[in-house]
Amino acid sequence: MVERPSAREHPSIRAALSGRHVLITGATGFLGTALLERILSELPGTAVSVLVRGRYGSPPQSRIEEVLSSNAFRPLRERIGMGGIQRLLAERVALVEGDVADRPPDLPGDLDVVFHCAASVSFDPPVDQAFQVNVLGARNLYEAIGSTDTRPHVVHVSTAYVAGMTKGVVPEKPLEHRVDWNAEAAAALASRSAVEAASRRPEMLDRFMELARKEHRRAGPMAVSADAEERRTNWVNKRLTEYGRARAQTLGWPDVYTFTKALGERVAEQLSTEFELPLTIVRPSIVESALEKPYPGWIEGFKMAEPIILAYGRGSIPEFPGLPEGVVDIIPVDLVVGAMLAIASRPPHDGPDYYHVCSGARNSLSYMGLYDNVKQYFEKHPLPERGRGEIRVPEWRFPGRRRVMKKLDVGEKLLARADRVVSHLPRSNRVRELVRRVDREKARLEFVRRYADLYGAYTEAEVIYTDDRTLALCRSLTDEDRRDFHFDSAMIDWRAYLQDIHCPSITVAMRVLSPERPPPQVRVTPRHDGVVAVFDMEGTLLDSNVIESYLWLRMAELPRDQWPFEVGAVLRGLPRYIGADRRDRGEFLRTFYRRYEGASVEGLDRLIDQDVSELVLRRLSPAAVRRIREHRRAGHSTILITGALDCFVRPLLPLFDEVVAAELDREDGRYSGHLRIPPLVGEARSAWLRAYADRTGADVKRSYAYADSHSDLPLLKAVGNPVAVNPDVALYRVARKRRWPVEDWRRVKGTPRVLVPESAL
Ligand SMILES: NC(=O)c1ccc[n+]([C@@H]2O[C@H](COP(=O)([O-])OP(=O)(O)OC[C@H]3O[C@@H](n4cnc5c(N)ncnc54)[C@H](OP(=O)(O)O)[C@@H]3O)[C@@H](O)[C@H]2O)c1
Repeated sequence: MVERPSAREHPSIRAALSGRHVLITGATGFLGTALLERILSELPGTAVSVLVRGRYGSPPQSRIEEVLSSNAFRPLRERIGMGGIQRLLAERVALVEGDVADRPPDLPGDLDVVFHCAASVSFDPPVDQAFQVNVLGARNLYEAIGSTDTRPHVVHVSTAYVAGMTKGVVPEKPLEHRVDWNAEAAAALASRSAVEAASRRPEMLDRFMELARKEHRRAGPMAVSADAEERRTNWVNKRLTEYGRARAQTLGWPDVYTFTKALGERVAEQLSTEFELPLTIVRPSIVESALEKPYPGWIEGFKMAEPIILAYGRGSIPEFPGLPEGVVDIIPVDLVVGAMLAIASRPPHDGPDYYHVCSGARNSLSYMGLYDNVKQYFEKHPLPERGRGEIRVPEWRFPGRRRVMKKLDVGEKLLARADRVVSHLPRSNRVRELVRRVDREKARLEFVRRYADLYGAYTEAEVIYTDDRTLALCRSLTDEDRRDFHFDSAMIDWRAYLQDIHCPSITVAMRVLSPERPPPQVRVTPRHDGVVAVFDMEGTLLDSNVIESYLWLRMAELPRDQWPFEVGAVLRGLPRYIGADRRDRGEFLRTFYRRYEGASVEGLDRLIDQDVSELVLRRLSPAAVRRIREHRRAGHSTILITGALDCFVRPLLPLFDEVVAAELDREDGRYSGHLRIPPLVGEARSAWLRAYADRTGADVKRSYAYADSHSDLPLLKAVGNPVAVNPDVALYRVARKRRWPVEDWRRVKGTPRVLVPESAL
């Protein structure tokens, strides 16, 4: 039997909450902001405290001021002005600083209602974080309330999805609790130390090192270690996310969010009994943009459906898993707020009360219905595509999860193959364009995979949450309340809501095509206070490499008919050199320079002066020379750092204030084939630059570095103005991610080349 309180028995919401003091947790979030706005704008007699934590370097006070200057308060601001808002803040809002996950907060002693909205709402956080907020956070809050002298009505915001992977009809009543929340919370918290310990086992550390080495070996051991440690911490978090998902699923919930929210209800029930607190549990379904208040379409951040709707509108989801006839239970945020305020005005007297605030039972929207409306909307109002007109949205055929996921698997495999190929192609503009395409496709597939995994339980749900109690409450409202706080989901016209309110609201920013972001540019700012410009040589200033330089020398020295033999000898050694270079650039240089063993110092100098200098200068990029001169004009010191032999850089000396090159040991006028000091490669270059800065007072953060290879990452990261010149694929990816300028300084066409393949070294 549905209980139907009569309107005559109850005062209006305004009257019931007038002179009352309410606390809101989660007021900086979507639902909490909507609730705060409605109380401040429509319940003038109600005092509010908000529990807010400091975050991202912002103290709680500034965060709540930000909330009041956000879009949610736009209509109110237009009505009462900024001064009025500030007065509201000063006179009606009190701040309680606190993080519910840390400890019980210090609460005011005169609370009448507590709206507990704060939660970790992500579906896949590490398991311990989800428990800290959604389970232990609730415990901390209710213990804090229990320690005060008042017994406020607790409105605990849960979610309809606490019902877990149930099928069929779910009524508004307590969950059947079979799980010991204390034991689960203890296990979740303990899992971090277990996973941390597992991540530190030698075989795991070796695995992280091996992967890190593959990518960063050429940059040096510290770069490898830093990457290995980053991989370890990522692994720990990923593992803790998997722990949460797996544990949730073994107990009947699709994810750690719904699992911890369900246990949060249990905490609320136990502690409300222990402390004799009136408790109401409110379970909204998927909360989306406002139907009417604060204005139609208001939404804060992108919630559940938006990422998929927008990606569909961009044409990037050709298919998505889901049951076409399954119910997607959406409820506009203002209806949830209306229900919460009505609930707050009617504290329960005999144990906890339960309400579903959702649409599926009486005004259901099917997955197919959602799709049709979104599709029609984008067909009528397609998103613009820069330079290519409008985006056409795909037709979904709902072939079932298995086929969608199989297609995704195939796509991922093909892409991995394409990625391996482009990563080994020689550098060029065309290859960089290919890299951009591969990366775009990778991001797209990762997106689909992530959301298909996360949302499966929601797009394939065969469940109806009944809302008879909520409907009864709604029908019992006074006329005034029905006008101002209505929350009957039957009134939603899905076509109008989705096509005229929700989709226009969430796509508005995407329709303003901002002018294309210009690619990052190098700005050589004149300064005289210790700015340096560091240049790598081979591949950056010069389109050549160590092997080619050696061949220049040998060819200058040998009669023409012996050239093929010399080149053949070098080519035969190439696999060894390439192997050494892949392992470690220093090892390659040491191995290769052994070829100079026994060469006459004087003879080599003569050859360089007579024949090779000119070749070096001809191979020097004109763009490089212009940039070096620009730095000099700006008063910067110019530095050349190279693994090439010092004798080869002699022709470039006039361009630089400082040159750091490799030197071979010499004995009795001949080279020994051994380096005098370890070659300056990878992170040895950044170490050199730091030592140089200590010695000379150079301002590294304002300085510039130009290099072409991923192995130069430590040098590029060390300066404030890094520039990737003719970058290899790995460096190009980093430069794009960090928005570093990318320049092409390759020599002019027609300059002679010796035959060593560019990709070789
Ligand atoms: N959105 C939905 O579709 C939906 C559906 C059903 C139920 N719900 C429930 O509605 C409530 C609000 O959700 P929402 O969408 O508004 O989420 P939201 O936008 O992510 O906001 C979460 C709020 O909780 C606060 N919070 C998180 N951890 C905290 C901590 N340790 N201490 C203090 N405050 C903390 C956040 O503060 P910071 O700003 O400091 O992070 C933020 O104000 C949640 O209980 C959620 O489970 C939401």
